This record gives sequence, C-alpha cells and structure tokens, in this order.
Amino acid sequence: MRNSVRILLGIILTVIQLTAIAQPKVVLVTGASKGIGKALVLKLAESPDLYKVYGTWNTTLPDPKDFPGITMLKMDQTRYVEIQQTVGIIRKREKRLDVLVNNAGMGVYGPLELLTEKQIRKQFEINVIGPLLLMKEVLPVMRENNFGRLLNVSSLAGAVGIPMMDVYSGSKFAIEGTCAAMEGYLGVMKRSDGTPWNLSCQVVEPGYTRTEFKKGADFPGANEVPGYFSKSFQAFEKRLEEGLSRGQDPAEVAEVIKAAIDDDSGSKVFRIQTRQGVTRYLKEHYGITLDTTGASLVIRPVPVMQKK
Ligand SMILES: NC(=O)c1ccc[n+]([C@@H]2O[C@H](COP(=O)([O-])OP(=O)(O)OC[C@H]3O[C@@H](n4cnc5c(N)ncnc54)[C@H](OP(=O)(O)O)[C@@H]3O)[C@@H](O)[C@H]2O)c1
Repeated sequence: MRNSVRILLGIILTVIQLTAIAQPKVVLVTGASKGIGKALVLKLAESPDLYKVYGTWNTTLPDPKDFPGITMLKMDQTRYVEIQQTVGIIRKREKRLDVLVNNAGMGVYGPLELLTEKQIRKQFEINVIGPLLLMKEVLPVMRENNFGRLLNVSSLAGAVGIPMMDVYSGSKFAIEGTCAAMEGYLGVMKRSDGTPWNLSCQVVEPGYTRTEFKKGADFPGANEVPGYFSKSFQAFEKRLEEGLSRGQDPAEVAEVIKAAIDDDSGSKVFRIQTRQGVTRYLKEHYGITLDTTGASLVIRPVPVMQKK
C-alpha cells in the first residue's frame, strides 16, 4: 500500500514537473539595463512563448521602448531588502522562478595594495555578496516548482588570476567556488520520494566583451600609482581599453547563455565558455590548461557521511 502511494505521488510530481517545463520559463536577469544583460533579455523576449523575462536595473533608468516585452525592476544588489523585494514580486506574479542569471557586476582594477578598503569591500559587495543573496532567495522558490537553473556570469578572470585584476579575479573565483560547492549537491539531490529537484548551478566565463564595463569600473587614484607600478599599470589600462573595444559582441555572449537556459539535459558543463579558441590561447601563451568542464572543481556525487 505504502509503495503504491509512493508511486502515485511520484507520477503526480513528474506530471507537475513536465507541465512546469512546458510553460514559458520565468527568467530573472540582473544588470539588464545595458551590456551583456541587456543583450540577453532582448534575445529572450523574442520568444514570449518560451520565456517570461524579468530584468533589473540599478542606476540606468530604462526606457520601456528599449525593453519590449520585458519587465524591468529596480534593484541595487548591495541592498538585501531590494533583492528580497525583487524575488518577492516575481514569486507573487508568476508563482515560480525557473532561471536566475546573476549577471550584474563591476570591476575594481589595479594592484591590491593600491586600492582603498572601500573599493575592496565594494567589489565583494556587488560581485559576490549580492549574487549569493540572490541565489539564497531564489532557491526556495525554485524548490516549490521542482525546477531551477542558477547561471552566474563570472569571467575568464574567475578561472585564471589576471594580474592587476586582483580583486575582480578574487570576486569571480569566490562565485565560482560557491557555485561549485552547491552544484555538488544540487545536481544530485532528490526529494524523499526519489524524484530529482532539477536544480543546478553553473558559471559562464566570457573574455573581453564590447560593453561599457570600463565606465562602471574603479581604479586606484591617478596620484596613488607609485613609480614602480606605473609602467605595468599603464600597460594594463591599455590592454583593458583595447580588449573591451575589440572584444566579443555581447549578443554572442547572450546567445551562449540562452543555450544554457534551454539546456534541460542532465549532463551540464559546469564552466561555460563563450568563445572558441580560449583554451588554446591560454595554453599557447601562458602554458595554462583550463578545466572547461569543471570536473576538477565539483565533487559528484555528494559524499554521504557514514555512521560509525
Ligand atoms: N565586459 C566584459 O569584458 C566582461 C568580461 C567578462 C565578464 N563580464 C561580466 O559580465 C557581467 C556584465 O558585465 P557588462 O560588461 O555587461 O557590464 P555593464 O555594461 O557595465 O553592465 C553592468 C550591469 O550591472 C549593473 N550593476 C552594477 N552595479 C550594480 C549594483 N550594485 N546592483 C545592481 N546592478 C548593478 C548595472 O546596472 P545600472 O547600469 O543600472 O547601474 C548594469 O546593468 C559582469 O558580471 C561582468 O563582470 C564582463
């Protein structure tokens, strides 16, 4: 009898799950006012039958004409109360949230020793604490519907420490580490009746992308760069300028993130690259072997503690 109740419950849950998947996915993209986030919400909004799109903005007030079919919400991700409000609004309206794209971010650049305490804290508040609180808030909503994808826009600087991007790299490593730890259980956990929760955490690692990222970035004050750093810092600034102006089209990065949103298969790559040839470049120029699958980062399956 117990077994048949279990089987029935399993069937009901599977049906709920399949019905849920057939509905448009409710997607929240943070930092959608410009750059990669904007390119992504615009791309998703082209298919209203597949996605219900929410985006957030912080300081750049969006003109509704530029965001057709997209609900843009105000959210400063350094303010927990605004994160809670944003997730609360979507949960109330949609009764679900299928995908979070943690995209909003900024860069604090320069050698660690030249940065102020305020700049260092700001980098981690925006790029780490905010995205972590967002994931914490959306997971219970995702569990209500037995489905959820957490996609964190990291960077190549989250895979390889990039000189003079000390604190920025640190913030992206922090996101990747947290997501890798979570993926270890999210990817394998099941409900008590054996049905999977269908949750996952992945990171996306773009290289230079043609956005206004430099405008929002922070640097050491011009007078604070001592002689022994000035040459290498100037060279770094030049590389950054050139990299951002010649970088990948944000629409291409958006296409890659969209493909990850669409991927409902069980076999997911943990680290998603947005550009071909990155691994070869790192190998040829720096002798670095990038673990693109993330196999060396995520422990699967979750080790079960044995009772003695
Ligand atoms: N561009 C690149 O070369 C590159 C390369 C690798 C990775 N990435 C990553 O890609 C993501 C998007 O970057 P992007 O190049 O598209 O940058 P962007 O054009 O400068 O856009 C940044 C977005 O983040 C939002 N944002 C900044 N601070 C925020 C805060 N405190 N709370 C909420 N939102 C905030 C901005 O909102 P407002 O404009 O409304 O203030 C904006 O929508 C970032 O995580 C970045 O680290 C970028």
